Amino acid sequence: MQRVFSGIAPSGIPTLGNYLGAIRNWVRLQADHECLWCVVDLHAITVWQDPVALRQQTLEMTAALLACGVNPSEHILFPQSAVRAHVQLGWIFNCIARVGWLNRMTQFKDKAGKDRENASSGLYVYPNLMAADIHAYHATRVPVGDDQRQHLELANDIAKKFNHDYGMNFFPNIEPLVLGPAARVMSLRDGTRKMSKSDTSDQSRINLTDDPDMIALKIRRAKTDSLPIPSNLADLEERPEARNLIGIFAALLDADHATVLTNYGGMGFGPFKAALIELLVEKLSPIASETRRHLNDKGLIIRVLKTGAERAAAIADPIVAEVERIVGFM
Ligand code: TRP
Repeated sequence: MQRVFSGIAPSGIPTLGNYLGAIRNWVRLQADHECLWCVVDLHAITVWQDPVALRQQTLEMTAALLACGVNPSEHILFPQSAVRAHVQLGWIFNCIARVGWLNRMTQFKDKAGKDRENASSGLYVYPNLMAADIHAYHATRVPVGDDQRQHLELANDIAKKFNHDYGMNFFPNIEPLVLGPAARVMSLRDGTRKMSKSDTSDQSRINLTDDPDMIALKIRRAKTDSLPIPSNLADLEERPEARNLIGIFAALLDADHATVLTNYGGMGFGPFKAALIELLVEKLSPIASETRRHLNDKGLIIRVLKTGAERAAAIADPIVAEVERIVGFM
């Protein structure tokens, strides 16, 4: 069985974008893979995090992951900082990766923005830590969004250079399971931007604990254009908001855009939105109530994370100990 590793930011209650883009896929991978799911708090602090909020958001993300069907007994769910192997291997990878490689990472440029001099050095070496996350377990399959493809290529470059420099075939090649743009959920206010926790407007996203009234309000207010729903896929081009709502509907049904257009083509957005609201409420209500139930028992979440960390360390520690021996540490 292939070993899968993936990470998600401790961003609190996930959005519909997190769910359709990542989490739902994680749950499906559990059927025929050995999975490690990591809440990446070490990565989170590459930009400022309020300590109280960080802890709370880690609990919320964990509660929601459990509610979505992440299985912490057959698989492993843990907070990154609780397994020291990530940091230990991350340092070694800081010494393998070349500055020139990191300078090509587009995410650093995006996240650092204009004031690059003031970005943390952690943000710069973020991809090295991500490589360590995966290689500390000899994981070979990594589900990620399109935006992480470059980081996975870097992780493979690091593995190759390590293997070459130390003259052994120690780290396996990673195969990305890149989720196509179909799984990409965009902002409800601007169909050209990704649905995100960091958007200042809560109206731009559906959170997995939004109640039915809130879901209805946000979808009714979601930006559209004045044309009816088209019947042909080609007519969705240049209509990012329409494409996004159709895409969400399709993803919730596990269908494609074309199937939705067959059923709703020619209709106005009013009735389409009503159907979308109904579908969202049907799919998300059970997740919302499960998440709330878990959040009422923080002790349970903490125990799940602790057990997960112990089991993760049992895999990573011997691998990283071997790396340290290879490198020549005492
Ligand atoms: N960088 C990833 C993201 O922003 C999160 C992440 C951290 C990750 N470590 C990982 C994903 C390891 C896959 C494997 O989505």
